Amino acid sequence: MAITEIKENVYWVGAIDWDIRDFHGYSTKKGTTYNSYLIKDEKTVLFDTVKSNFKDDLIYHISEIVNPEDIDYIVVNHVEMDHSGSLPDIVDLVKPEKIICSPMGHKAMLDHFHREDWPYEIVKSGDTISLGKKSITFLETRMLHWPDSMLSYIPEDKLLISNDAFGQHLATTERFADEVDECDLLHEATKYYANILMLLSPLVGKVLAQVAELKLEIDMIAPDHGVIWRNNLSGPDVNTILGLYDRWSKRETVNKALVIYDSMWKSTAKMAKAIGGAISREGVTVKMMNLAVNHRSDIMTEVLEAKALVFGSPTLNNGTLPRVADFLAYLKGLKPKGKIGVAFGSFGWSGEAVKQITANLEAMDMEVIDPGLRVKFVPREEDFTKCKELGKKIATAIKAEA
Ligand code: FEO
Repeated sequence: MAITEIKENVYWVGAIDWDIRDFHGYSTKKGTTYNSYLIKDEKTVLFDTVKSNFKDDLIYHISEIVNPEDIDYIVVNHVEMDHSGSLPDIVDLVKPEKIICSPMGHKAMLDHFHREDWPYEIVKSGDTISLGKKSITFLETRMLHWPDSMLSYIPEDKLLISNDAFGQHLATTERFADEVDECDLLHEATKYYANILMLLSPLVGKVLAQVAELKLEIDMIAPDHGVIWRNNLSGPDVNTILGLYDRWSKRETVNKALVIYDSMWKSTAKMAKAIGGAISREGVTVKMMNLAVNHRSDIMTEVLEAKALVFGSPTLNNGTLPRVADFLAYLKGLKPKGKIGVAFGSFGWSGEAVKQITANLEAMDMEVIDPGLRVKFVPREEDFTKCKELGKKIATAIKAEA
């Protein structure tokens, strides 16, 4: 693929993964990119590497700009294998003068690659390294999303190289946010935040505040996945993504309910339809999310700004259906806050599913506004009336919080 000069003497030299469809449980329907950047100055610097099986793409792209052996420093902003898998090969090839990383990055590299002999240079927040005309200032972002994570800021270019933050899983030959379909871009940026960063929202808020406090002038954000945000054209830009991260970190919601359910013989599905319909008739947006046909990571994308999560499951083997259990476990890990939660479902004889879901919702600090609705086997007319009443109650609670 074509390399791109994103700023004078700053180049994208990464790799495009068109085929990846599963990123440890996150469905990457549009593939992804592993972005590496190269700065050519008195010192030549490579920022992050790529997944191991894309090593040759990286070397090829670097070679179009410089002889790889001329690279002086490798900055490791993040040690997760999608950015460091090819690091040992690149270190062998480049023989860098320095491998620059955060204190936790140093530990993580030792634990991954067991190479005490590499020329590590440990930097902390606020440290600056001169490259000649340009310089790099580092900002540690511990636990965003790994302990080692840090940002690299190039003040002379007003460029923030942000590792995973502000990324999207989007394979494209275009390199900038204003060059791709806006709906695709914003959807993938939302999905990325919901599935990777949502649980870290308080830390995201702190980093945004830190960036504001430091008065960093930013006219380009170059993440390690997807396209680069820049300020120069109409279309999504740096302020677009900073504004969205601000909104998401504050956990702002819209008047929207998700009905997330699975069904065995359509009884729970019928209840879902009746509850969802009743919520919608009260003027609240509803999304029906059947777990049999929606991937957990796509449902999470909708969870990000939803005000109410309404869960349905029949009882199977004294518990919920497996897909409901899977989604609840996934959701719990991503620590949703400030949601209204309700459970419903059909049952045959024991009927524990609704109680178990409700206990899960309470454990996630959701506002459980109803003990849950259970229907024996197939809903009768009076059961549909109860479903509609429940839907109305959910809509009323959503509107009361608006
Ligand atoms: Fe893209 Fe946390 O790695």
